[in-house]
Amino acid sequence: MNTNGKPALEIRDVSKIYKAKVGLLSGRGKDVVALDRVSFEINKGEIFGLVGESGSGKTTAGRLIVSLEETDSGEILMDGQPVTGLKGKTLKKFRSKAQMIFQDPYQSLNPQRSILDTVAEPLNIHRVGDAAGRKDRVREVLSSVGLSPPDDFLYRYPHRLSGGQRQRVAIARAMVLNPEFVIADEPTSMLDASISAQIFNILLKMRNELGVTQLFITHSLAAARYLCDRIAVMYHGRLMEVGQADQVIRNPKHPYTKALIDALPKFGHSGDRKRYGTLLTRERTDAQDVGCNFFSRCALAQENRCNLEKPVLEDNGNRNMVACFLR
Ligand SMILES: Nc1ncnc2c1ncn2[C@@H]1O[C@H](COP(=O)(O)OP(=O)(O)O)[C@@H](O)[C@H]1O
Ligand SMILES: [Mg+2]
Repeated sequence: MNTNGKPALEIRDVSKIYKAKVGLLSGRGKDVVALDRVSFEINKGEIFGLVGESGSGKTTAGRLIVSLEETDSGEILMDGQPVTGLKGKTLKKFRSKAQMIFQDPYQSLNPQRSILDTVAEPLNIHRVGDAAGRKDRVREVLSSVGLSPPDDFLYRYPHRLSGGQRQRVAIARAMVLNPEFVIADEPTSMLDASISAQIFNILLKMRNELGVTQLFITHSLAAARYLCDRIAVMYHGRLMEVGQADQVIRNPKHPYTKALIDALPKFGHSGDRKRYGTLLTRERTDAQDVGCNFFSRCALAQENRCNLEKPVLEDNGNRNMVACFLR
């Protein structure tokens, strides 16, 4: 692990806008602001959770970090070095340091390739060792994700594996080059709860034993609480609250975080009673781009304030950073 004292990852004021497609009959649609001036840092050896509903921009953030897409503005630094605009050899080297595990293990593995070929591919691309050495490394990494004995798996194809086993193969493939940083994008959303717990434990082991820094993307605060040191709660491309996982969940400050906690039965009061108040759907007639992104669903929002300006993340003196005028 690099120990130059810099955060493993810095996201500075990053925005990503997907331009609307122009349809022949429909005319020009609306641009989608997938990320809106997002900033956070991940420390070395930390598991940092990015939590939010579907469509909030989590996957976009992951894709930008591993350079699968380019930012429209802002900066992404890994170990103090910009990852934007990397090309050729530098891009290749960077790719070996930062890996992404995708949501759907049924789509992320090539059905035509054996497990050996799948997991060895990054070693081939990066010309690591000879054929025998690569095979040994594949055996080692398969064992470390709980696919053992590894020789039972080397020549199998994905269709002969369960969903949980496929996700283990995807993790093995991500780990085979000893990356420093891994992004796990909802790695268990297609899996049963008991299998999910096993996958979470593999991610924890990667951090505890190998020091792998991780960005864990999830829609579930419960999963984030189990795995993460710190979490960031995102809504429609903007960060709403950032802090220690325990602190954010026990003492949420943002109305959206509170709403997410209400959705977790075991954190609320008994029965169906909501602890923090429900989400609204408020009609907006004004310019939606101006005010708080959460305005139309916020039970506490004030007209002539929250709809006129975007709150920025600020320290509330209680460790969580919160983007809300009413905190
Ligand atoms: N390639 C794309 N083209 C256009 N819009 C996209 C594209 N990828 C994502 N989006 C839009 O950006 C927003 C954020 O998407 P995403 O990052 O996938 O969210 P999440 O992972 O939190 O569900 C969504 O509104 C989504 O429809
Ligand atoms: Mg996603």
